Amino acid sequence: MKKSGQAFATFPKDFVWGVSTSSFQIEGATQEDGRGPSIWDTLAARQGGIANGDRGDPACDHYHRWPDDIALMRWLGLDAYRFSIAWPRLLPRGRGAPNPAGIAFYDRLIDGLLEAGIEPWACLYHWDLPQGLQDLGGWPHRDSAGWFADYAALCAKCFGDRVKRFATMNEFSVFTFFAYALGWGAPNISNQAEHLKAIHHTNLAHGAAVDALRALVPDAAIGAIHSVQPARPQSQAAEDVEAAALFDEVWNKGFPDAQLLAHYPPRIARLIEPYVRAGDMARIARPLDWFGLNHYSPMYVRAEPGGMRWGFEWGALPESLPKTDIGWPIDPDAFRQTLLDLTARYRLPIYVTENGYGVGSGEGADDPRRVDYLAAYVRAMRQAKRQGADVRGYFVWSLLDNFEWGAGYGTRFGLVHVDFKTQKRTPKKSAHWYRALIKAQ
Ligand code: FCB
Repeated sequence: MKKSGQAFATFPKDFVWGVSTSSFQIEGATQEDGRGPSIWDTLAARQGGIANGDRGDPACDHYHRWPDDIALMRWLGLDAYRFSIAWPRLLPRGRGAPNPAGIAFYDRLIDGLLEAGIEPWACLYHWDLPQGLQDLGGWPHRDSAGWFADYAALCAKCFGDRVKRFATMNEFSVFTFFAYALGWGAPNISNQAEHLKAIHHTNLAHGAAVDALRALVPDAAIGAIHSVQPARPQSQAAEDVEAAALFDEVWNKGFPDAQLLAHYPPRIARLIEPYVRAGDMARIARPLDWFGLNHYSPMYVRAEPGGMRWGFEWGALPESLPKTDIGWPIDPDAFRQTLLDLTARYRLPIYVTENGYGVGSGEGADDPRRVDYLAAYVRAMRQAKRQGADVRGYFVWSLLDNFEWGAGYGTRFGLVHVDFKTQKRTPKKSAHWYRALIKAQ
């Protein structure tokens, strides 16, 4: 590890420093105070659904320990905290009568953040769809746009007096792809027609939610959060190059192009046409205030007939690239380039809403490789900014070690170590590093 104290990149005073989490990954208390089941509870209850049979309880027990977690954020010196609201806590079946105890939880959290001088950034959907809505057809059902807009309106009415930063959803491409192409994320249905419908309807849901938020919280800054990772072919063979171009549309462009440029990229456009009705693209492309970028590493793909329902598979990673403990390529320059590309393509202020380093097992509070990764990525962000990228803020994924989806509690991304048996929190070396970085600004 470099003497990080001297090596800090500096940013303007109004640059926003934060951390991100999501409801299902940290809250626990899945059956408390009237919360309904989500599709991830259903998947976790299934044999083999999640590694080690892990479930959404206890996670970080944040539902009860949120005051401790705000104290950690305050110690870190954060400007902002990005969390997600659990739809099944507010509306246990997804629609119908709201659950006052669920609303009260977020009231407490938001008030606590404001008291601590930390700005709440609320994301309305980070993958925990109420099971009741899945039972009605979930995202492939066109009515899902209306369900989501009603839920967004409820969030706006309950929290819009205090929350002024809203994101509609987190990583549309990832949760639809995991579920409907790969079949290993909830709700676990591998089918391309369902995937295409889910893509279009989550886009429609986004647009409808933006309208609801805008009408009810006129002074809110509204955005959406996308996973953008450069898609690279495994080789220069024509079929691999084409596979990477298709993957790029499915993973990176299918959502932001629709939402910000009012059209689908060409390969998706041809396939999705049967599900698009007159006026839909205008319903999707509502004006937005910012672009949320989740970035970790470039992705390599190769052509494979029938692979992942789309005709591609994960490709071999170049030997020369260093990798994280969980095998993700480390390539800060790809981050720099992504920030420049997104600035040119969508012309919105960018907030990096996720970036972080995952470890597969056995990590304690001594995490020098995470420090090196974060320092290199922050430096690349600084360089991108100098070169003209309109990047305004940075949120580390994540505050705490947490429930890492299919990998359960085995994979750790936290700045703060969590002992899941005792719930003891211990700031890692990276937390100390981040705190010093923020202080040095
Ligand atoms: C992102 C997710 C987030 C977390 C990180 C590691 O794709 O948005 O919930 O799992 O990856």
